[in-house]
Amino acid sequence: MKKNISVKLLSILLASTLLFSSCGKGQEVSVSSEAPVSSVTESTEEVTDKETETEEPDEAALEEARKIYLNKDLPVSERIEALLSVMTLEEKAYQCVQAEQVTVTPEIVKNTGIGSVLSGGGSAPSTGNRPENWQARVNELKAAALETRLGIPLLYGIDAVHGNNNIYGATVFPHNIGLGAANDPELMEEIAHVVAREVRAVGVQYSFAPCLANPQNERWGRTYEGFSENTADVARLAGPFVAALQGGAKNDDYLPEDAIIACAKHFIGEGYTESGVNQGDVKMTPEEFDELLAMGVLDPYKACVDSNVLTVMPSYNSINGLKCHENKHLLTDVLKGQLGFKGMVISDYNAIGQCKGTYDEEVANCMNAGVDMFMEAQEWDKCAKTIIKLVKAGKISEERLDDAVTRILRVKFMSNMFDEEVGSAHEKELLKEFGSAENREVARRAVRESLVLLKNGEVDGGLALEKIKEATNITVCGTGAFDIGRQCGGWTISWEGKSGNITVGTPIIQGIYDAVKEHATVSHSVKGDIDVASDLIVTVVGENPYVESGGDVQASDLKPIAGDVKLLETIEEKVAANGNNPTKVLIVIAGRPIDITDYVDKYDAVVMAFLPGTEGEGIADVLFGDYDFTGTLPMTWIKNFEKVDEKHELPESEILFPYGYGLNKAGEKLVRE
Ligand code: BGC
Ligand code: BGC
Repeated sequence: MKKNISVKLLSILLASTLLFSSCGKGQEVSVSSEAPVSSVTESTEEVTDKETETEEPDEAALEEARKIYLNKDLPVSERIEALLSVMTLEEKAYQCVQAEQVTVTPEIVKNTGIGSVLSGGGSAPSTGNRPENWQARVNELKAAALETRLGIPLLYGIDAVHGNNNIYGATVFPHNIGLGAANDPELMEEIAHVVAREVRAVGVQYSFAPCLANPQNERWGRTYEGFSENTADVARLAGPFVAALQGGAKNDDYLPEDAIIACAKHFIGEGYTESGVNQGDVKMTPEEFDELLAMGVLDPYKACVDSNVLTVMPSYNSINGLKCHENKHLLTDVLKGQLGFKGMVISDYNAIGQCKGTYDEEVANCMNAGVDMFMEAQEWDKCAKTIIKLVKAGKISEERLDDAVTRILRVKFMSNMFDEEVGSAHEKELLKEFGSAENREVARRAVRESLVLLKNGEVDGGLALEKIKEATNITVCGTGAFDIGRQCGGWTISWEGKSGNITVGTPIIQGIYDAVKEHATVSHSVKGDIDVASDLIVTVVGENPYVESGGDVQASDLKPIAGDVKLLETIEEKVAANGNNPTKVLIVIAGRPIDITDYVDKYDAVVMAFLPGTEGEGIADVLFGDYDFTGTLPMTWIKNFEKVDEKHELPESEILFPYGYGLNKAGEKLVRE
C-alpha cells in the first residue's frame, strides 16, 4: 500500500518538474524590490496561475501525501519525501525565506506560504513587549501558516542569546563571555533548560544561539558574544548547551516538549578579522585558513554538530575577501560534507547583500554555496521570486532547491511543528514561570560563577576579600551599581541594549544591601562623594551597552566610560582628603577586557563581572556571602591597550592578567580546567 503511494507521488513530482521546465526557461518572472509586501499574490500571478492548473487534478494525491506527512508515527525522511513531492516550485521557494515580523500579517503568511519569520533585536509585537503580547503575535502567525494549501508550519526565530532577552520580564543571563569565565558545562545545561522554557512559553521554537566566536581582539564589538578566545573552551561549553537547548535529541529523534532549535553561529572565522573589525576580513589564504580550521577553529562547530545542532548561520565576515555566505568550500564541503551537518544553513540578517554581484547573483551564489534559508528581513518576497526565477533559468538546480527545502522541512518535523497544536496548553503553562524566581536562581548562580577575582590585596594584615565582611559603613559608587541596562549590555529588550531601568532585575547595589543589611549601612554615591566614616568603598565602572558594529572601537576607547573615569578620579581625591584608609573594591562591568591598569594598583581588590544580566545579587553572594570565586579569564588581558592589535604576540611582561587567570578569596591562583 505504502509503496503504491510513493510511486504515485514520484510520478507527480516528475509531472510538476516537467511543468516547471516547460513554463520556466526564458520566461521572466517580474522581480521588483519596490513591490509592497501586500501585493505578493498579484505579482506572482504568472507562476501561481500555471501551478493551479496542476493542483486541481492532484487533490487525491495531496490527500494521500497528507496521510503520510501528517503521521508522526512514520520516519521523518518518509514524511519529508511525501510533502516535498506535492510542493510547487513557488511553495518551495517561499519555504526558503525568512521575514522580519513587522513586514508580515497573518494574511501575508497565509497567502505566501512563507517558511519563517523572525523578530530582529528588539522587534516586539505592536501590541506591547510582555510575554502575553508575544505569545498572541507568534501564535496568530503560526496559525495562519496552517491555513496554506499544505499547512506547513511557520518557523519563528529570535535571538535568545542570554535568556529570552527581547521580552520584558525575562530572566537575563550573563553574556557568553561571562559564561566562558564560569567555564562550567553543567551550568550551560541548566541555563539552556531555562532559556528553552522561556522561549517556548511565547510560542517560539527557534533561537539564533549560541555564538561560537573566538574573540582575539577586543576592539571587536561582538567580543562579549563569544565564550572564549580559546576554541577548546567554546567547544566544551557550546556542545552541552546545544544538546540541552534541543532537549538532548539525537539524529532522527523528535525534540522533546520543552526544547527549542539551536543555531550555531556565525560560521566561521569570527574573532579573527583584521583589527577586530565586525563583518571584516580574515586576511589569510584559503589554505592558511584551512590550517586554522584544523588547528581547532572548527572544533566548536564539530561539537555542536555532534550535539545534533539543527541550524547553522554563516558569518558576515569574509576570508581573504570572499564572504562566508558565498563560500561553497566552507558551507558545503566543510560544514555539510566534512562535518556531516544535516540541518539547515540560514543566512544572517540581510547578509547576502554584502556578497558580490547583482541581487540575482547574490541569491544564486549563496544558495549554490549552501545557504538553505534566507534571512531577507525586508526583501524576502523579492528573494523568493528570485529563487523561482533562478531555478527556472537553471542557475539554481532543482536538486539544490530540493535539498534546501528538505533540510528546512527536517528542522520543522524534528521540532514537532507538524504534530503540535499552536498555542498548546503546555505553552500556556510555561508562560506562568516566565521570569520566575526559580529561573532567576539559575541566572544568579551563573553570575556567581562568572565573576573573576583579578586582585585580592592585603589590607590590615588580611586579604581584602576576606576582610570586607567586617565592614559596617559601605559606600557603593557609580551609576553602574544601579543600572539594570548596563549590567545586561546589548541584546536586551532592544537590539543595542540601553542604560537604565529597562527590565525586571536586581541592581548590584540592591544585592549588596540585601546581603549586609543586618550588620552594615549602605549608601550610594553617584559622583564619588565619600563619607569619612566609610570603611568600604565598592566602585562599579565599565562600559555602556552596545551591539555588533556599534561596539567596534579604537584601541584608545577600550576603557571605562568618561563618567566612570571621572568618578574614579573623584574617589581618589575624596579618600585622600578624608585621610582615612577604607578598603576599596573595584567591580568592572564590561563586555571585554578594558584598560584598568592604573586602577589595579589603587584598589585593594578588583573583580571582573563581565555583563552579568538581570541577577545582580549574584555579585554580593560572592563578595559578602559564603560563595568563593571560581571564575577564570577566558581572554588575555593586556596592560597597554594601544598594543591590542598585536596582543597575542606580546611578551609576558606586557600582560596584565593572562588567559586562565583568577584568584579565590584566600588569594590562591585558580586552575582553569
Ligand atoms: C546578527 C545575528 C542575529 C541576526 C538576527 C544579525 O545582525 O549578526 O547574530 O542572529 O542579526 O537578529
Ligand atoms: C535588527 C537586528 C539585526 C540588525 C542587523 C537590526 O535592525 O534589529 O536584529 O541584527 O538590524 O543589522
